[in-house]
Amino acid sequence: MNIDTLPPGPALAGRHLLLGVTGGVAGFKVAELARELQRQGATVQVVMTEAATRFVTPVTFQALTGRPVFTDQWDARIDDNMAHIALSREADAMIIAPASADFLAKLAHGLADDLLSTMCVARECPLLVAPAMNRQMWGNPATRRNVELLRADGVTFLGPTSGDQACGETGMGRMLEPDELAELTVAFFAPKHLRGQRVLLTAGPTFEPIDPVRGITNLSSGKMGFAIARACRHAGADVTLVAGPTTLPTPAGVERIDVRTAQQMHDAVMGALDAPGPRHTIFIAVAAVADWRVANYSASKIKKTGDDSLPELRFAQNPDILASVARRPDAPWCVGFAAESDDLEKNGQDKRRRKNVPLLVANIGHATFGRDDNELLLIDADGIRKLPRAGKDVLAAALVEEIAARMSGAGRPVTAGR
Ligand code: C5P
Repeated sequence: MNIDTLPPGPALAGRHLLLGVTGGVAGFKVAELARELQRQGATVQVVMTEAATRFVTPVTFQALTGRPVFTDQWDARIDDNMAHIALSREADAMIIAPASADFLAKLAHGLADDLLSTMCVARECPLLVAPAMNRQMWGNPATRRNVELLRADGVTFLGPTSGDQACGETGMGRMLEPDELAELTVAFFAPKHLRGQRVLLTAGPTFEPIDPVRGITNLSSGKMGFAIARACRHAGADVTLVAGPTTLPTPAGVERIDVRTAQQMHDAVMGALDAPGPRHTIFIAVAAVADWRVANYSASKIKKTGDDSLPELRFAQNPDILASVARRPDAPWCVGFAAESDDLEKNGQDKRRRKNVPLLVANIGHATFGRDDNELLLIDADGIRKLPRAGKDVLAAALVEEIAARMSGAGRPVTAGR
């Protein structure tokens, strides 16, 4: 097999992030954020305000990031004693988390009376802030004015959200969770390959009932499909995700339609395509759809009989959702998936032609269900391209780039012409 490879990396690989921590009880969660950003491939340099060190010690962040933490404008560890310039010049972005009401006020007015605020004024890179404060402080007219000023200055707000607050009250001003902040940071940096596109996806298994308490399903976890939905969103697309039964959380900013059976999945997909409004431009069928449903569904629970007689199940064919979408005169650009056990390349190419789709993605090996990593073969009219083993989130971002390149007509430098 003649294949081309590309080395996918984590979403924030090569990024250097400056994590500014200001005084707020949410600071303890930022230790987790520092870890998550590093897990995504970023290097993280922490700078804290004096107040922040009252909540979490610099030692915590130093241990987690493997870098000294700076708090003082007069820190002599930087050769020319210009910490504010030296540190901010290296950064691809500054993230302030938690961002207190006081710090937002300073930022809005360009005050520079400590190391972190001076760095914000001296920076050349984008600034992202994750506010965290009591609901009254968030609602205060001065804070509202400051938020508007900062938005107008091009500062990106990550939250806040509404919920329980450390003070015991409930309301707006709670900092987003570390995984949400990390996801928004990944989205911030993701190339907007799919800006202006509307993507419809299916993901997860289906469940075909036998009677009210039993059914037939499969081992699909939905992880690959959900990762692709998330990556499409990060790439700037409007995303609708039709999901079979799974407990996975909905990716931020994605519209989700939950279904159970293949027929419901089919109807939801057709409903989305027929809905008024701008048309979907891409359809990605990731779901492991049951080929058959039980034709003699029993409305009451099938009981064991006293003798040894066994229930008889009869099956009916389910609609092929992908093929039906690809047949439509207004068909979006279609991507299919395949979980073949042998002769992946030939069977994949046959399936691609049979379903009449420009791109078929084959899982290499069958033990991918439920795992967090995968290995993919992309099969199109020009040949085969391999995405080597990586996390499903990494592969999803690479796949989005591959789809965008093919849609733009740029093609890919595929080696195996056929
Ligand atoms: O024919 P097979 O099930 O192997 O094809 C797999 C591809 O077709 C996947 O993209 C899957 O989501 C899609 N499919 C579908 N509806 C079906 C069966 C498969 O959309 N009933």
